[in-house]
Amino acid sequence: MWAHRHVVVGVSGGIACYKSCHLVRRLSEAGATVDVVMTEGAAEFVRPLTFEALSGRPVLTSLWQPGSALQHIRLAQRPDLLVVAPATAHLLARVAQGLGDDILTTLLLARTAPTLLAPAMNDEMYANPATQDNLRILGERGLAFVGPEAGALAEGPSERPGRMSEPEVILAHAARLLNRGTALAGRRVVVTAGPTREPLDPVRVITNRSSGKMGYRLAEAAWERGAEVTLISGPTSLAAPHGVTIARVETTAEMEAAVRAALPGADVLIMAAAPADYRPESDAGTKRPRAEGALKVTLTATTDILEATRPTRKPGAVMVGFALETGEAEPKGRAKLERKQLDMIVVNDALEPGAGFEVDTNRVVILERGGGRHEVPLADKRLVAEAILDRVEARLGR
Ligand code: CTP
Repeated sequence: MWAHRHVVVGVSGGIACYKSCHLVRRLSEAGATVDVVMTEGAAEFVRPLTFEALSGRPVLTSLWQPGSALQHIRLAQRPDLLVVAPATAHLLARVAQGLGDDILTTLLLARTAPTLLAPAMNDEMYANPATQDNLRILGERGLAFVGPEAGALAEGPSERPGRMSEPEVILAHAARLLNRGTALAGRRVVVTAGPTREPLDPVRVITNRSSGKMGYRLAEAAWERGAEVTLISGPTSLAAPHGVTIARVETTAEMEAAVRAALPGADVLIMAAAPADYRPESDAGTKRPRAEGALKVTLTATTDILEATRPTRKPGAVMVGFALETGEAEPKGRAKLERKQLDMIVVNDALEPGAGFEVDTNRVVILERGGGRHEVPLADKRLVAEAILDRVEARLGR
């Protein structure tokens, strides 16, 4: 989504400047054109040359530097987004008062693009009523904020907010701000992810090789498109994506209950999870000793969550299933699309290299009700998630 986007990153003078280098790098890597505008104080912490190397573009530090005439006005009005990180207490005060006493504040006075501020300061400075008043004024004028957060400050740990959000979190908020007005903005999206685990006894389980990566990337991408996202996750080692409400479950029955609870208000359900299809008929209660020899277990089928929760679906909601097959994937996927009464099914073949479980990439075909077929070539799961959400948005927009 960052390709062909023009972002201005304003940097004011706080120690968090070092994290802004990473932010600029991430934006550039993602394909955005990034112009960096620094205050004099920021240039005391990090040399402009560092940002020039990271963005590949000249950096503006003064209204009076040769070549900068009217640049601040151009940069105020051309970009898709302005991000100020860090935004110090002094910077916030100047912007709230409408001062234009350096290149960054002048640019912010003339801004027309959506603007995201990442405040960073000492916790007392943040709590100061003057700073709080300035934040309120800026919020009322439509500027958006990310953080600050509690945690380590330069002067030591703090329970109170002051620390600038991490570059990844700023990036996620920036994406969400840029995506205002897309079909998923404000929609309720439920995503399931990962395997489920069915106990044989208190120690042993039956599970499968799903890593949860596809579902987590979908939840992350849907939040960045402005959706309110509930992620229902089986056991995985993945960190919860920023902004997403996560419900952690263990068994297929628990996943079913969580889906049932989340579904009535949902505009979209994406069942990316691989719920265990079988569970031991009985849970032994205590650990079964190995000395008892061969083990015979009777497995019973678990509930099909998509089928069982069908009556709970909101009319018009978009239902997306996944089908991981091993051979003849498309005809099997098309049959599941019909049987489970879905709007869309994402089909992949576990036997293909780079697709399926435990890898960061996937190669899928999206089949839609009504006959649509979209091939997504081998790509990072985040890009596959974007392709799936493009199709979901197209259906929501109808
Ligand atoms: N699914 C579900 N409940 C289950 C098993 C699967 O809701 N107990 C969902 C999956 O999340 C997926 C879709 O159904 O979105 C297809 O899953 P898959 O395992 O391919 O289909 P099954 O119905 O289990 O069919 P089979 O195992 O016979 O291929």
